[in-house]
Amino acid sequence: MTLRLGDTVPNFTQASSEGEINFYDWAGDSWVVLFSHPKDYTPVCTTELGAVARLKSEFDKRGVKTIALSVDDVDSHMGWIKDIEETQNVTLNYPILADGDRKVSDIYDMIHPNSLNNLTIRTVFVIDPEKKLRLSITYPASTGRNFNEILRVIDSLQLTDKYSVATPVDWKDGDDCVIVPSITDPAELAEKFPKGYTPIKPYLRMTPQPNK
Ligand code: BEZ
Repeated sequence: MTLRLGDTVPNFTQASSEGEINFYDWAGDSWVVLFSHPKDYTPVCTTELGAVARLKSEFDKRGVKTIALSVDDVDSHMGWIKDIEETQNVTLNYPILADGDRKVSDIYDMIHPNSLNNLTIRTVFVIDPEKKLRLSITYPASTGRNFNEILRVIDSLQLTDKYSVATPVDWKDGDDCVIVPSITDPAELAEKFPKGYTPIKPYLRMTPQPNK
């Protein structure tokens, strides 16, 4: 099954390092970062899972829960978690799904046999509180992810859901935004952008970030 942006993601019940998880119940009203990795006891994944644990306060601030997945079993996860905690100097503060039967990886299309046979590739899904897929990125096995970039995209999604703006190249929280092209009525522009805006081209109008 291919999941596309805007699709409602499927629910599942699966074992994890924190017991059985019904995904929708576990997610509740939160945003979710669901990310897969090829295998337990591998070097890149070890650093990634540590990094996500260290960023917990940043995810919490944004109302985001994190959950990892690989096709290894719970016993393997429990042993590996000890290594992650020891080597990355963190306490693992989120569950790792144990998807040995590939129930989740199949419905989320996390196995790409031409890349990695029988193993989950490195995917990241950002899912909103309505269970809609808002971001999906697929990385090669040899490249660790940048979870600060995932936080940056979540900032953009949460901002642009509330205000009629989009975020330009390399934007980060606090930077100027662009006004969506559909708004052209001067009265609406004045009402929505009381801080004003700079028209560079009719379609390229910069405005201070509305919620700052
Ligand atoms: C790793 O996480 O280190 C890794 C996993 C699969 C292939 C290569 C590296």
